[in-house]
Amino acid sequence: MDSKKIFIAGAGQMGAGIAQTALQAGYRVALYDMQEALAAKGAKKIADNLQKSVDKGRLAAADKDACLGRLAIAASLEAAAEAALVIEAIFEDAAAKKQLFASLDDLCGPDTIFASNTSSISITELASATKRPAKFIGMHFFNPVPVMKLLEITRGLRTAEETLQFALAAGEKLGKVTVVAKDVPGFVVNRILDPMLNEAIGMLDEGVASAEDIDKAMVNGCNHPMGPLALTDMIGLDVLLAIMEVLYNEYGDPKYRPAPLLRKMVRAGYLGRKSGRGFYQY
Ligand code: CAA
Repeated sequence: MDSKKIFIAGAGQMGAGIAQTALQAGYRVALYDMQEALAAKGAKKIADNLQKSVDKGRLAAADKDACLGRLAIAASLEAAAEAALVIEAIFEDAAAKKQLFASLDDLCGPDTIFASNTSSISITELASATKRPAKFIGMHFFNPVPVMKLLEITRGLRTAEETLQFALAAGEKLGKVTVVAKDVPGFVVNRILDPMLNEAIGMLDEGVASAEDIDKAMVNGCNHPMGPLALTDMIGLDVLLAIMEVLYNEYGDPKYRPAPLLRKMVRAGYLGRKSGRGFYQY
């Protein structure tokens, strides 16, 4: 097993961000997606981001080259075989994640640690798809991953203490501030943040204020770096809806009911920045 190798499944916004962070921390990374072209797109995003840092004088060109030299696009799941850590960052769908982990479980050695970047799905449930629940943990990063300092670590019911210590040490190597949460829907941040975003969408629907004014209010009244609607556009409306559904279904509490406008916009394909339109046009 290669202790400096991380296999990352999912090369979207989060997966590519985690990969970039790991490369800059000195890890070797195998980046996988369902289609090789998607992994290549993620790799290109990483190269572009690193180049921006070089242009700003924040990163030496040689360090950028060294990072890219440690990055490999994985054509298949087999590339996970000798990784010390697997981080899954695919879309928020419990069945798809479980299927992926079950396949990886057959390919990886018994000591490989499995982590999910899920923002709300139960770690205990995902771990149940494998024969290694003691070596399974939640490692939840924040968007944009290379910038945001936090890493939430979630212990499933059967996660071993050594696995928790491994994740905490990996978080430190990745340069993140770590917090440990119980396996409850939304963990710490999304339990607080997402109902606030959902409330802002409900207020927009009620006509309390314009999108611009709701955002202006929170930026200037609470010093948030961006308003709740602009942030939802960045996170993805579909991602927020998926998390609200988990909070609503798991707690059965109406306070987590997804705003009808959020549901409608997702149905219309207005997913935020990634689709060119959300609460704002891009
Ligand atoms: N990838 C890599 N780097 C990025 C980036 C990205 N997508 N976006 C911005 N950056 C970098 C910039 O390059 C810049 O770096 P330098 O300081 O080296 O120049 C730095 O971040 C600041 O960027 P900008 O000056 O362009 O913009 P800003 O000062 O307005 O900051 C922001 C942008 C960091 C996104 C800031 O607005 C912010 O912190 N917003 C809130 C983000 C947030 O709340 N994230 C959590 C979302 S919730 C989540 O992720 C969890 C979930 O499960 C849903």
